[in-house]
Amino acid sequence: MLGTETQRHPFLQGLSKHRGAPPTVIVIFGASGDLTSRKLIPAIYNLSVDNLLPPDFHLIGYGRKQMENAAFQEAMTESVKTFSRRELNDEIWARIRDTASYHSGGYDEPEPYRKLGERIESIEKELGREVQALFYISTPPSVFKPILENLGASGLARRHRHGAFASKVVIEKPFGRDLESARDLNAVITRQFDETQVYRIDHYLGKETVQDLLVRRFANSIFEPLWNRRYVDCVQITVAEDIGVGSRGSYYEQSGAMRDMIQNHTMQLLSLTAMEPPVSLDPESIRDEKVKLLKAIQPLDPGARQGDVVRAQYAEGLVGGKKVPGYAQEDGVDPDSATETYAALRLSINNWRWSGVPFYMRSGKRMARRVSEIAVQFKRPPGILFSDAERFDLASNTMVIQIQPDEGTTLLLNSKIPGLETRTQPVKMHFRYRTTYGSNTPEAYERLILDSMVGDSTLFIRGDETESSWKLITPILETWEKYGRQGMESYVAGSWGPLAAEQLLWRQGHEWRRAGP
Ligand code: BG6
Repeated sequence: MLGTETQRHPFLQGLSKHRGAPPTVIVIFGASGDLTSRKLIPAIYNLSVDNLLPPDFHLIGYGRKQMENAAFQEAMTESVKTFSRRELNDEIWARIRDTASYHSGGYDEPEPYRKLGERIESIEKELGREVQALFYISTPPSVFKPILENLGASGLARRHRHGAFASKVVIEKPFGRDLESARDLNAVITRQFDETQVYRIDHYLGKETVQDLLVRRFANSIFEPLWNRRYVDCVQITVAEDIGVGSRGSYYEQSGAMRDMIQNHTMQLLSLTAMEPPVSLDPESIRDEKVKLLKAIQPLDPGARQGDVVRAQYAEGLVGGKKVPGYAQEDGVDPDSATETYAALRLSINNWRWSGVPFYMRSGKRMARRVSEIAVQFKRPPGILFSDAERFDLASNTMVIQIQPDEGTTLLLNSKIPGLETRTQPVKMHFRYRTTYGSNTPEAYERLILDSMVGDSTLFIRGDETESSWKLITPILETWEKYGRQGMESYVAGSWGPLAAEQLLWRQGHEWRRAGP
């Protein structure tokens, strides 16, 4: 039974064995960018270490910069040396490096695409077989459209469109900046590609702990019966970072926490935590459930007084004992900026399972520590037996799924303190990836690049999914834009966020957990 299931669902196969990706030419648009050197090239190298790249694998870097092949190969080698989770093994690396080439060209003129097509054909001639072309768009979003249109116009999108070697396109975030632009981008994509050829990235889905969410929920029988409004008091999702905007000030000014983290990463965590069980593990069944969940979220009224949304900007403070500037003093940031570096929301899900259960989400830069977690807080038992607060220190049972950095799950229980007197205190049961599996787990991008080559879209965002999420977020962004800095809260860098975010929970009789294991 397991054997048949595994063959049917690539999701079940994981990284454990070669999953039969056809011969592939991966073309990275934005080849000299930060993401390429920090994440994509090291991920490709690590796939090769694990023998997971298809036998005839070629890498082409595409960028506006003029560069010789040798210089590109040198830059890639540096990125593996600096950012790979495993040390560079020259013999393995040489197999990728020596066939890698650089293709310089503008993004919005047809000629370089024609030449790119010729280059792919010449690789096919050398190999004596067809290859699939995987176009990885890792550029600033302003050139997504011209790239997609030119891939279409040059015939590259339609190469073997329905065959085993159909071209594929992987698109990095941000996918639009509001509902209208996301729809517009989807329309451009679907004019050139079938949805089955499209892989919209949210790298959180490639994280081991995020994939484990489905296993935790649906491969254990003890949690699912409790996973509903009868037993759950509230759910808290935290994606906190201690870093500031660093050198990305001018990008971040156009984005802010809502677009950068909430619309995509935190919404994905929410969907996987709250969705109904899918009928099977195939990509469409899982994505159908996520979309259903997003549609059940009650639209927010961002204009209402004491609304369900808080935005804030970090002020100067101390992080790790070091003084750091406020957001408005960062490079590339307008001193009067109205961009939020923190956002918190209270969401209600109007469906049978979750009616009446608040879902709180928060994400921010320059917070007290880097930690991402999902905390499912259960209702307290009736206060009949252990009601004397002097002796009985009781916490709500809480299941905390730590997404990063200290991956694992913690269960908060109440326990009797050993002794002749009956006293209680909350205790923690821990499961840590580090102790159970060791620490060298694959990076999100390894999984995602492999899945896109193999053709498994489970961990990618479908077009309607991204629109459903933008539909919820866009009215908030529009209201914020209208009010400018009015209503913007402030928090000290290195803290857990603004007071207003605490009040958001206090009003419901809850409080934020001190995130962490
Ligand atoms: C990116 C955001 O999508 O995710 C960054 O643009 C953020 O601002 C990053 O720092 C966080 O990713 P991770 O994997 O480090 O949690």
